[in-house]
Amino acid sequence: MKRLVIVGASSLGHEVYSWALDVNRIEQQWHSFAFLDDDANALDSHQIYKSKVPLVGSIQRYIPNPDDVLVMAISDPRLKIDIANDLTRRGAAFTSLVHPSVILAENVQLGTGCVLCPHVVVSCDARIEEFVSINLASTIGHDVHVRTGSTISSHVDLMGFVNLGVGVFVGSHAAVLPNITVGDFAVLGAGSVVLRNVRTSTTVMGVPAKQIAGFSNKP
Ligand SMILES: CC(C)(COP(=O)(O)OP(=O)(O)OC[C@H]1O[C@@H](n2cnc3c(N)ncnc32)[C@H](O)[C@@H]1OP(=O)(O)O)[C@@H](O)C(=O)NCCC(=O)NCCS
Repeated sequence: MKRLVIVGASSLGHEVYSWALDVNRIEQQWHSFAFLDDDANALDSHQIYKSKVPLVGSIQRYIPNPDDVLVMAISDPRLKIDIANDLTRRGAAFTSLVHPSVILAENVQLGTGCVLCPHVVVSCDARIEEFVSINLASTIGHDVHVRTGSTISSHVDLMGFVNLGVGVFVGSHAAVLPNITVGDFAVLGAGSVVLRNVRTSTTVMGVPAKQIAGFSNKP
């Protein structure tokens, strides 16, 4: 049994800790928990975690330890991909955290370093690559392909055969219609309904979702 090291001690990190406790309640997977964060004061506003989950150091200076397995708790796709690449190159080992309430249908492929939060449903033949985060109650339709490092917020609906590029950020309650392709590092605004393919590094929002000139693609 190993220590679970949560990369990122912000609110997503707190959530990941909570979901990891749920996993351990079903069958113990990790003997203890720790946070890594480049901000040494990251837990100051949430003292409750300080007593239970030590912040053991920065991501930049972390030295991989065979007793550790890491889970990613960073939402911003570019930052997440950079940190995942850096830590992997330095020899860190990642796991995927799948909450016990998640439904994974037949023939789902799931890469390492993913986090699937409570009540996520992934339908048949979907392929989720590495370091994908899927937040509460989102639905990934049949034959969907989600590429490395994408972040899917809560209550999202990706319908059948959707193709999500590398590092896409999908805002809460967005719906993406069947067969749509979303380019790498695109941002889909909260509540948007995506009816047309989305180009790389563009932000779309609204119903129907449209690109608005001048918007950055920061989530
Ligand atoms: C799309 C998004 C990235 C744009 O962010 P932004 O560039 O900072 O945009 P602003 O907040 O400055 O808003 C600019 C304009 O876009 C509109 N807008 C922003 N987000 C929108 C959305 N999701 N749908 C429709 N219109 C939206 C605003 O009303 C505003 O319009 P106005 O200029 O006519 O007043 C952001 O609003 C969003 O939806 N992020 C997702 C948040 C989320 O779901 N997080 C996960 C949970 S933590």
